[in-house]
Amino acid sequence: MSTGDKILGVLLASVAVSGAAFAQTMPVKYGFGSPVTEQELSKYFSIPVDGRGLPSGSGNATAGAKLYAENCAACHGEKLEGNPAKGIGGDKLIGGRGSLATKTPVKTVESYWPYATTLFDYVKRAMPFNSPGTLKDDETYAVVAYILSQAKIIQPTETMDARTLPKVAMPNRDGFEPDPRPELELYR
Ligand code: HEC
Repeated sequence: MSTGDKILGVLLASVAVSGAAFAQTMPVKYGFGSPVTEQELSKYFSIPVDGRGLPSGSGNATAGAKLYAENCAACHGEKLEGNPAKGIGGDKLIGGRGSLATKTPVKTVESYWPYATTLFDYVKRAMPFNSPGTLKDDETYAVVAYILSQAKIIQPTETMDARTLPKVAMPNRDGFEPDPRPELELYR
């Protein structure tokens, strides 16, 4: 064994010993925190565009109209026309269909959003803006059905649920260009 090898051996041994000593001083338990429950975890979700993971439950526009008036109209307007007021301003949700490529594009759920499943995901996650997460799944389906029916994307009588929502044909579904960026290193 050369001197170099000996030095290396001693070094490695001391790393191993100090590693083991360190592990021994680590507490097994820290005495705080608690295991996360299924209910807590259920607050963290994401519905992909194909609708996988949409919850059970359902709703239609009739129920949705009432819920919308109570929970959304103050900010998004009685007729979903939006509210420019500072502070409570919410976007216009319908209209503008076919306007995106014009000089005066109007970006709304009706004119822009390619998937109805995203509407469920967004409303359940983020709306009402001042109290997100308060709508039950049935209520979210209902309010989504109301917006889609006011946008004339579905019939007012249609029920939205985990089966029907992914099948809704959004007007701007094909308005997006795939952009794979093959020239960029990151995507190779
Ligand atoms: C307190 C005001 C307020 C209330 C109440 C509210 N919203 Fe909103 N909403 C907003 C604001 C502000 C935004 C924009 C948020 C952002 O860009 O981050 C928004 C954005 C949205 C969008 C996205 C619009 C787009 O094209 O990007 C949808 C859809 C929506 N809200 C639906 C609802 C529904 C449904 C309800 C009722 C259940 C509701 N909102 C209640 C203020 C509100």
